[in-house]
Amino acid sequence: MGRLLTVEGLTTEFKTERGVVRAVNQVSYTVDESEIVGLVGESGCGKSVSQLSVMQLIPTPPGRIVSGTIDFDGEDFLKYDRNSNEMCGIRGNKISMIFQEPMTSLNPALTVGKQLSEVLMEHRGAAKEEARERAADMLKQTGIPDPKKRMDDYPHQMSGGMRQRVMIAMAMVCNPKMIIADEATTALDATIQAQILELLYKMVHEHKTALMLVTHNLGIVARYAHRISIMYAGKIVETGTVNEIWDNPAHPYTRGLIKCVPVLGEKMVPIQGMPPNLIDRPETCAFLARCKERRKSCFKEPVAELTNIGGTHYTACTKGSE
Ligand SMILES: Nc1ncnc2c1ncn2[C@@H]1O[C@H](COP(=O)(O)OP(=O)(O)OP(=O)(O)O)[C@@H](O)[C@H]1O
Ligand SMILES: [Mg+2]
Repeated sequence: MGRLLTVEGLTTEFKTERGVVRAVNQVSYTVDESEIVGLVGESGCGKSVSQLSVMQLIPTPPGRIVSGTIDFDGEDFLKYDRNSNEMCGIRGNKISMIFQEPMTSLNPALTVGKQLSEVLMEHRGAAKEEARERAADMLKQTGIPDPKKRMDDYPHQMSGGMRQRVMIAMAMVCNPKMIIADEATTALDATIQAQILELLYKMVHEHKTALMLVTHNLGIVARYAHRISIMYAGKIVETGTVNEIWDNPAHPYTRGLIKCVPVLGEKMVPIQGMPPNLIDRPETCAFLARCKERRKSCFKEPVAELTNIGGTHYTACTKGSE
């Protein structure tokens, strides 16, 4: 399988009244064609900002991509301006993003049929009738009953779960090479969440689309992803295949996240404390204050780079195995 996305040394900052927030700090990762990669971490650790950076959707100002390279299918995204014709031609066409809240990406003033067809007319130069037909087919693929009729619905006439399906249809209608799903399901109840994830999985599998699945829940990612990256305080602290991470979690933070996954009949153990402030953070390990496995030396050492500990397994903390 070929490499699709290579992100290297990505750093994104926000200027705020209290100082500069380094939301994403020297992040590097890859995604192959048709691969499903999970990005996991607590709230505020930079998951969304890293993905919005890839999409060139960071509000500037206050945000700014300070450094890094983003190579997608041979194109260097950071060469293009955020609002350039090139980027607008790529987003929603070659790479799409599904957001936390569907109403932020659906236009309340247009019927879902019109929104779907317009994407096709704009990106693919499809004729009106052809676009409507493909749009209805997409709605059908996402399991929306009576899709031809629902084409004339406005988003507010649909249930939350249906709107999520429309979002998936929108993201996939141009047959992109990759989809970024950012907590697409947290606003829904657990049963619908599971259905939507199954649908997303089915769709990317059938269309051989790569998927970046962004979530708090390591359990969800372990079920669907090939590889996982764990993010903490703006950095990837551990990465590997699902088996490498699940069977042999190397970073104390990853071990903490695994204990947070609800298992029937077992006590869930939350990680104590809060992630650190991302303004003027010292370059020591960001998990230090919360780490149950910390040593004296951790307070003196700068945070380690990702180290290979076998196979495709990398960790920023090798203390556990010392
Ligand atoms: N527009 C902004 N201005 C200032 N700071 C911002 C802005 N957007 C994000 N941040 C900061 O960047 C950091 C990372 O935020 P991000 O939204 O990427 O977290 P996340 O991992 O996606 O969290 P969640 O799981 O809650 O979605 C946070 O500290 C956040 O406060
Ligand atoms: Mg987020």
